[in-house]
Amino acid sequence: MARPRSVYRCAECGHEHPKWVGRCEACSAWNAVAEEPTTVVVAPKRVGRPEGTGRRARPLGEVEGDRLVRWTLGIPELDFVFGGGLVPGSMALIGGEPGIGKSTLLLQAAARMVESGRRVLYASGEESAEQIRLRADRLTEAAGGVLVLGETHLETVLDVTREVRADLLILDSIQTVFTDTLESAPGSVGQVRESAARLMRFAKDTGVAVIVVGHVTKGGTLAGPKTLEHIVDTVLYFEGETSLNYRLLRATKNRFGSVDELGVFSMTERGLIGVPNPSALFLEARSASTSGSAVTALMEGTRPVLVEVQALAARSGYGTPQRVATGLDPKRLAVLLAVLERRAGHNFGDLDVFVQVSAGVRLTEPGADLAVAAALVSSLKNLPTPADALFLGEIGLAGEVRPVGGVDRRLVEAGRLGFNRAFGSGRHTGAGGIRTVALDHVDELVRAFAA
Ligand code: TYD
Ligand code: MG
Repeated sequence: MARPRSVYRCAECGHEHPKWVGRCEACSAWNAVAEEPTTVVVAPKRVGRPEGTGRRARPLGEVEGDRLVRWTLGIPELDFVFGGGLVPGSMALIGGEPGIGKSTLLLQAAARMVESGRRVLYASGEESAEQIRLRADRLTEAAGGVLVLGETHLETVLDVTREVRADLLILDSIQTVFTDTLESAPGSVGQVRESAARLMRFAKDTGVAVIVVGHVTKGGTLAGPKTLEHIVDTVLYFEGETSLNYRLLRATKNRFGSVDELGVFSMTERGLIGVPNPSALFLEARSASTSGSAVTALMEGTRPVLVEVQALAARSGYGTPQRVATGLDPKRLAVLLAVLERRAGHNFGDLDVFVQVSAGVRLTEPGADLAVAAALVSSLKNLPTPADALFLGEIGLAGEVRPVGGVDRRLVEAGRLGFNRAFGSGRHTGAGGIRTVALDHVDELVRAFAA
């Protein structure tokens, strides 16, 4: 009897079902069952000596280390986030909410790669060739040489990629394609995962670089399985407030470069334009003479970036005071408020507290604690922080200020933007023409503002 073409396996417990079910029969998990092709494992025939495997493990020192080839995408900020360019035979995923600019950025990159003599196929299941043409007409780049294909059948896309001998395949989006090997609908977990696995094998076998677009749902996860991120070499996220014109591109996984690298773009009428100096952009709207504002330097990947933290403490109108954190973990805000209250006597008890960070940047490193605390206390006391100073430090539960790593690079960036002083742990040393001023405990903050 012929084996069925696919099985439906539960991602939670691995139980196999002959057909799709909404709830796993073994572990009762909802929506965890996805189609996958049946694979028949055939043990390879033994050749040669009956005892041997025919394979030889080598000392690592004897393995020839190919120097990594990289193709430039022609957009410096994009190349930077990729770790210096696109690696042939690699596969990258660009995730982001609909409308953020993924298709625009990739079409611009495609145009520039074609300009530099490479062959690029832009396959889209989202838009027709005519629609892509309309988009291209708005761009500064001449995209006339980019090959376009409106197609959702994955095997056809791969065949055409071979036929036109493309160096780069851009697939927009992974959720719209389907592969023959599965019967489920495009966009289903099984289809997305299997298509990604096929594309990855294709990239490795042919040396074609592949970039796929993946839509992110409102919750911030890639629509489709998280396993997609494990399959590909590089994962980039494109984010930003659609109402603001900035877009942040961040690498969250990169087998060929460092993660957390940040590229900043501004969306214009003629497409996305890289912002080579994000710190200046993030501080652009800052009004240094108002209370409730403090500047810090974050390490975004290997690059220091200056951002402004704003806080507002206001008498609460009714009932329980509100705590609203944008670009910052609300739990971290709660910790900092508690520390300021218990260790420095700054009472926010019945006040509404709002904290936000410039241009949609997220504070993920504890080194930004001191700036958040400074902005909070500045708003509470209605005292502006010194305009020429930045705040660097992690705050412990005892109210102590701890040193941050990579302080030199942060200070050099701050010096470049005209700052003179950095408040933080007394263990920091100066760099970039910036004087470090010891601030070893949160109860010294108010005094620092007068300095
Ligand atoms: P798009 O690249 O289609 O987003 P995604 O592929 O991530 O869904 O871009 C969406 C928005 O960008 C759309 O609202 C129009 C706008 N846009 C510009 O502002 N300038 C431009 O030059 C282009 C091409 C698009
Ligand atoms: Mg799109």
